[in-house]
Amino acid sequence: MNFQWYPGHMTKAKRQMQEDIKLIDLVIELVDARVPLASRNPDIDELGKNKYRLILMNKADLADKEKTKQWSSYFKEMGFFVVSLDARTKNSMKSITDIVMEACKEKIERDRKRGIKNRPVRAMVVGIPNVGKSTFINSYAGKACAKTGNKPGVTKGKQWIRLSKSVELLDTPGILWPKFEDQSVGLKLALIGSIKDEILNVDELAVELIKFLISSYPGLLSERYDVNESGDITDIIIEIAKNRKCVSKGAEVDYSKAAALVIDDFRSGKLGKITLEIPNSQE
Ligand code: G4P
Repeated sequence: MNFQWYPGHMTKAKRQMQEDIKLIDLVIELVDARVPLASRNPDIDELGKNKYRLILMNKADLADKEKTKQWSSYFKEMGFFVVSLDARTKNSMKSITDIVMEACKEKIERDRKRGIKNRPVRAMVVGIPNVGKSTFINSYAGKACAKTGNKPGVTKGKQWIRLSKSVELLDTPGILWPKFEDQSVGLKLALIGSIKDEILNVDELAVELIKFLISSYPGLLSERYDVNESGDITDIIIEIAKNRKCVSKGAEVDYSKAAALVIDDFRSGKLGKITLEIPNSQE
């Protein structure tokens, strides 16, 4: 995933979303459960004001369950409906329609009182790149991909996926741009592999990850790589390189290979279920 945002790009994406949002009742916002704040662009709150809101904490299979619960409460307190899920598995989808209906129940009730029947709730998926928007749409829509045509009053070219009698989904997700102003946001997005143009190189990323793991998940590195966590971070990486036979030509210890190994193990979940941020922390 390689993306570079520049003002023209952002303005276009934002304008498109402003148009699309007019057509819907509910914003389904995907965030990455390992970095639920860093993977949000708070501008969505302005763009999506007056809309019903559902936050999907995706990639929950890779995140720390306890922290996912804390984040779920955090978002609920902010007035969002929240579901944590693994968008790749179809069985996570069963509950989504129920939650969508629940989130939009005021509108459904209002329609009912006015005698309007069978007007589906309309939703769109939004999120920064790589959070799993396409995966979610595919899993959720499944075989229900029968697309509805253009309708009077609906912007030309918009395709809706009819999920049931009660829910229609816009088939293209809205792309939000990550908010990089803060160094730590860039770091977290680089760690989860969302940005190719990392703000730091792999060696530096590994140092930051190891620092974080030692303080937030003590024992985890020593268990996986048989290293002494109280040492200097550089020494820890050298120890990992030795234990994991990360050597380059001439049997020299390959520091960068060990750094990349730690990052890969984290991204693929081999290091365990890890969440990089907790609600209301200044980190
Ligand atoms: P996007 O539209 O928001 O840009 O994201 P997309 O669906 O393309 O998903 C980005 C990557 O995240 C994909 O992996 C996808 O399989 C993975 N993914 C999506 N949802 C989940 C989830 O809930 N859990 C986990 N563990 N992974 C998820 P990829 O490496 O780009 O492709 P591939 O491995 O599927 O081939």
